[in-house]
Amino acid sequence: MRWMVVGAGGALGTDLVARLGAPDAPGAPPTDSVTALTRADLDVTDPDAVRAAVRAWLAAPGEGRAVLVNAAAYTAVDLAETDPDAAAAAWAVNAEAPGVLAAACGDGGATMVHVSTDYVLGPLPGGERRPLEPDDPLAPAGVYARSKLAGEERVRAALPDAHHVVRTAWLYGATGPNFVRTMARLARERDTLTVVDDQHGSPTWTADLADGLIALARSSAPAGTRHAAGGGSTTWWGLARAVLEELGADPGRVRPCDTASFPRPAPRPAWSVLSDGSWRAAGLEPLPPWREALRTAVGHHPELLLG
Ligand SMILES: NC(=O)c1ccc[n+]([C@@H]2O[C@H](COP(=O)([O-])OP(=O)(O)OC[C@H]3O[C@@H](n4cnc5c(N)ncnc54)[C@H](OP(=O)(O)O)[C@@H]3O)[C@@H](O)[C@H]2O)c1
Repeated sequence: MRWMVVGAGGALGTDLVARLGAPDAPGAPPTDSVTALTRADLDVTDPDAVRAAVRAWLAAPGEGRAVLVNAAAYTAVDLAETDPDAAAAAWAVNAEAPGVLAAACGDGGATMVHVSTDYVLGPLPGGERRPLEPDDPLAPAGVYARSKLAGEERVRAALPDAHHVVRTAWLYGATGPNFVRTMARLARERDTLTVVDDQHGSPTWTADLADGLIALARSSAPAGTRHAAGGGSTTWWGLARAVLEELGADPGRVRPCDTASFPRPAPRPAWSVLSDGSWRAAGLEPLPPWREALRTAVGHHPELLLG
């Protein structure tokens, strides 16, 4: 297969490129080729540059199915609420660029894997709480969430038979800032930490998601929108406690609070536990349980606990 990864320098992009290049990558034949483009290599908001990059990738010698994975995104969710330039950037990267990438894939016969977010989903009717399926109600709240939903829609429209839209949640990886790193740092700086305990989700290690996306693209699963996140669920408080456990510190130092006590510009869903039903229905192995994944992640990347 021939792969192109855009946004290759981000948390997920870094793991995608590493896993695609690893000799033990899931099912990887050594003949696979990978074109990895960071933001410095390709600004996805430049349509001419996107079309030229996709054409050059597809024209290069190589065999097999061509799959473009879009790991580029504008992810500063709070800044996008308060700064008009940030909001414009979020729209350009998250809504418009995926449509241009998808159209370029369509012109060249490539499949596109596009990563989206739990933030596009809304609460279930009647306050029900069960893991969310891809066809559950959508209610993106905030600039980032709306831009991500628009990106999904453009990908589906431009590539009706050759898209995989994958919603994930609560990512942390070895690269860049993330919640795990922040909690590890705060645990060293403070005696107690106060963390939100009324938002429920599925923490996801980017390496597990990268493996899942690769398996999906290699499979014969039809085009569609699916959910993929770490197994099980917790709250931010629960995840912070797990980080302290990994540090060998007392998790009792993490105190729970509610969202109202910790206001942020961008609204967060109170319930964004993602079901693995759509993943299993495609014949794919669900991502590992979140707690086990955290243990594995810090084993591979002890620097995560350095903050
Ligand atoms: N992080 C989460 O908790 C979370 C949760 C659910 C879904 N997601 C989704 O998962 C995907 C991966 O997220 P992530 O955590 O890996 O994000 P990330 O670490 O912020 O990586 C995003 C990458 O996109 C790049 N990028 C930004 N603007 C670009 C542009 N105009 N052209 C090319 N590249 C550009 C960024 O480069 P710079 O760093 O140079 O700006 C960065 O390398 C995204 O689609 C995100 O929406 C994330």
